[in-house]
Amino acid sequence: MSQTIHTAVFPVAGRGTRFLPATKASPKEMLPIVDKPLIQYAVEEAIAAGAKKLVFITGSTKQAIEDHFTPDPELEEALAGPGKEDLLDSIRNILPPDVSCTYIDQGEPLGLGHAVLCARPAVGDEPFFVHLCDDLIAGEPPCLCQMAGEYGRHGGSVIAVESVPPEDTSRYGIVAVNGESQRVTRIVEKPAPQDAPSNLAVVGRYLLSPVIFDKLENTGRGAGGEIQLTDAIADMLEESPVYAYPFSGERYDCGNKLGYLKATVAYGLAHSEIGGPFREHLRELIDRN
Ligand code: UTP
Repeated sequence: MSQTIHTAVFPVAGRGTRFLPATKASPKEMLPIVDKPLIQYAVEEAIAAGAKKLVFITGSTKQAIEDHFTPDPELEEALAGPGKEDLLDSIRNILPPDVSCTYIDQGEPLGLGHAVLCARPAVGDEPFFVHLCDDLIAGEPPCLCQMAGEYGRHGGSVIAVESVPPEDTSRYGIVAVNGESQRVTRIVEKPAPQDAPSNLAVVGRYLLSPVIFDKLENTGRGAGGEIQLTDAIADMLEESPVYAYPFSGERYDCGNKLGYLKATVAYGLAHSEIGGPFREHLRELIDRN
């Protein structure tokens, strides 16, 4: 099966309460890791995996995201002089010319499942990626590329998973899998450790069959009073196979402060321009403390 996945959905309508007050007027997805906002890392990963159509599910404070991906002729003109070629390049080529963006207002943040359902008219009847950009994954090849390869082997849906400490299961969707095929047999949203079917947690990368939309239409409010994507996935397990994919790479949960700082340090150290002096500074800082 060598079907390219054309569409990537980015749910960016959450309230980002764990990052208040930074996210009061500005979306969490615009928080920068060194010099690029989280949403740009997400978009670059989806494009690397073959997506040409980007669908953003947005909320009230999300205008900045649309602005980020819209050309800005005035700024381009201001950077047109000599010596600013790199800066000009960095804002002019954020998106390749054959990639399109669609913005859909979620209205109210009723949950991730509801956000994904809002994408239905733009996605149509094809498999699609869902990318949660607060899970930043440094992987080579990028995580969505790995998942597209996995999809090529058996079709169905593919969800990225990672082992978490047993005491953390109540923060994630947790899956049980058939050992050999990695086909998901059960998925539960945020189970208490004693109720968790395993310690394999779903992280923010999905490649979903469009079957999910019919399930989401009938998904009521679940954990936390939200319409959960996990519950709709649970509803389709028998009808349409879902495979757990233990991706290779390092995941940073940038939806919380510590994960965000860890990502900033890791990407800062790896940065071609500031990596060296940043490493020196960190050494000095550690020696002093
Ligand atoms: P999170 O629960 O991690 O994000 O949702 P949040 O709700 O914005 O953050 P906190 O918990 O209040 O700090 C995972 C992803 O799903 C999106 C969020 O924007 C985030 O990228 N989301 C969540 C929506 O787009 N709509 C929703 O109704 C809920």
